Formats: sequence, C-alpha cells, structure tokens
Amino acid sequence: MQNILVTGGAGYIGSHTVRALLKEGFKPIIIDNLVYGHKYVIKKLGNVEFIEGDIGDSKLIRQIFSRFSIDAIIHFAAYAYVGESCIDPIKYYKNNVFSSINLINEIVNFSKNQDRMIPIVFSSSCATYGIPKTIPITESTPQLPINAYGNTKLIIEKVLSDYGKAYGLSSISFRYFNAAGASSDGLIGEDHNPETHLIPLAIMATSKKSTPLSIYGNDYPTKDGTCIRDYVHVEDLANAHILGLKKLLSSDEKIIEYYNLAMGKGYSVMDIINSVEKVTNLKVNYKIGNRRIGDPSMLVANASKAFVELKWKAKHTNIDTIIKHAYLWHKKLLSKKT
Ligand SMILES: NC(=O)c1ccc[n+]([C@@H]2O[C@H](COP(=O)([O-])OP(=O)(O)OC[C@H]3O[C@@H](n4cnc5c(N)ncnc54)[C@H](O)[C@@H]3O)[C@@H](O)[C@H]2O)c1
Repeated sequence: MQNILVTGGAGYIGSHTVRALLKEGFKPIIIDNLVYGHKYVIKKLGNVEFIEGDIGDSKLIRQIFSRFSIDAIIHFAAYAYVGESCIDPIKYYKNNVFSSINLINEIVNFSKNQDRMIPIVFSSSCATYGIPKTIPITESTPQLPINAYGNTKLIIEKVLSDYGKAYGLSSISFRYFNAAGASSDGLIGEDHNPETHLIPLAIMATSKKSTPLSIYGNDYPTKDGTCIRDYVHVEDLANAHILGLKKLLSSDEKIIEYYNLAMGKGYSVMDIINSVEKVTNLKVNYKIGNRRIGDPSMLVANASKAFVELKWKAKHTNIDTIIKHAYLWHKKLLSKKT
C-alpha cells in the first residue's frame, strides 16, 4: 500500500481527495492545522491517519517523513480568500509561499538520502491567469495574476519547476477552476467559514432569514450581464488527483506538468441562481451591486490536456447535479448546526 501525505486534507477539496485515495487502495496521511479544516470531517473519513500540525513546521515534516514511508504528496494546504489576500498579503505570502517552500525543501532534503525524490501534486489555481485575453484558457495562456493569492500560487509553480530542473523533483500542478458540489453520497461537502463561493451563497440565500446574495455587476459583456465561470464537481477534481498521482508514481522520468481542471462550459451568475431555484424549488433572495475590482467577465477553460494525457473524465457534468449535491449537503450541515 502506498502512503500519500495529504496537506490540507481536512478541508473541502482535500477531504474529497482523501476519500478517492481510500477507494483506490492508497493510505492517506493527513496533515492539517485546522485553521480552516474541520475535525468532524476527519471523523467522517473513517480510519485515516491524521496529524494536527502546520506544513511550516520543519521538525514535524521531518518526523512525518521518518515515521511513514511517504510515496507521494498532494499539497492542498493554503489560504484561498482572494479579497483578503489583497488586504493582508503577508498572511498569504507567509502561508502559501513560505510554508509551501518549507514543505518542498523538506521533501528535497529528505529525498536526497533516498533512492528517489518524493513527487508532489500541487493545488494551483485559475487565479494564476489573471484576466485572460482569449477564452477558453489553455495551459499556455499567459499567467499574469492580478491579486496576491494568484501570485502565491504562481510562485509555487515556479519553485516546483526550478526544483524539478535542479534536483529532479517531479510535480504536477493542477490549475482548478471553480470547485463545486459535495460528495454524491452526502457524507462531506463544502464548509468554508467565511463562505465566498457563489453556489453555497446562492443556496444560503434561499432562506428567508438570510441577507440577500450580492451580484457584483450586471453590466458585463455576457448574455445576461453577469460574470461567467467554469464549475467542476469536487469529486471529479478528486479523481483527477488520483490520475495525476498515478502518473507520477508510475514514471521513471522526471515530470514537471501543468493541467487545467475545468469543464469548458461557462455559467453566468444568473444561470447559477436559476439552477438553484430549479433544484431547491425556492426563490434566491438577491440584489444587484457594483462590479468588484479585478473580476474578469468570463473565465472558461479548455481541459483537453487532462482529458487526453491523464484520461480524466468528469462524471458530474450537469450543473443541476452539482447544485443538487451542494444543496443536499447544505441541508445536512444546517441540521448539524441547529
Ligand atoms: N475551492 C476552489 O474553488 C479552489 C480553486 C482553485 C484553487 N484552490 C486551491 O485548492 C486548495 C484547497 O482548497 P479548498 O477550497 O479545499 O480550501 P480549504 O480551506 O477548505 O482547505 C485548505 C485546508 O488547508 C489547511 N491549511 C491551510 N494552511 C495550512 C498550513 N500551513 N498547515 C496545515 N494545514 C493548513 C486548512 O486548515 C484547510 O483545511 C487550496 O490550495 C486552494 O488555494 C481551490
């Protein structure tokens, strides 16, 4: 059985990937400082090795490497609030850059005495593309981030590339578009606090008690004036990690690769609201506000590189299904909290 260290495994995408790893016969070992992750998620994952700690703690990382024979790493741990990253970039550079480099340095230092470098799968982001000139976005679209968060992700992609060339570290960076939905069996789902993602916010706005959902601008050059985004079911993202991991583990060659994880189909904010109303049979309470600085009108990507090279195939391509899973999870979460 191969041991996979999963940083940020108590978080949203990390926990779904841990489930996918278990299903595929891997042994996941989670490290999470629980700043945004949840202990109840770890319990739901069953009999999984969990280390409460920080990836910036070199001593702890060294202990993990010597205690478990780690075959590969999937690195989710990061802060991911774009707005906050511009107000408090120190927080983002410290965690997403310093702590990630700390982890990657420990991988290289430890692997030097082993017969092979421990490969890494890294959670990058569509935020590294900034405001693209052409749509759909491909992996060769210029990466010009427009916020601190996007910069931190691009820096780690570059670190992985430089370390790959110099030390033979193999890596796959997945540039996710909007992760959405919840596990299809309703066991786990999205539980961010604060929540900033459109689908959970639109679902919350179906409650009469909630404040209205703000739509940031309806004068964009799109069919209904609202911004268009590309949504990927979280279980499909998780499965892409398994494929990336298998590619890294089975290759004797050094790999430094980048893949978009997207559906190639865009939905406007109004499309999402309409789908939430259809799925829940409830009205979404919303108001039109001003545009936010730095919101591109459309972010839709081409993921054919992952489809062809990794044989990645998305199972949940219908937006109503994604929203249905998110809604079922939301109801469960509410009943847990009340
Ligand atoms: N959710 C999305 O749509 C999306 C899109 C693009 C990229 N990403 C990236 O994917 C990754 C996972 O996103 P998510 O939505 O699951 O976020 P999340 O906040 O739910 O999960 C991140 C986890 O990492 C943990 N963590 C953060 N810093 C840590 C540290 N220094 N040491 C140990 N644990 C730490 C948090 O406690 C949390 O459990 C992040 O790197 C994010 O930037 C997410």
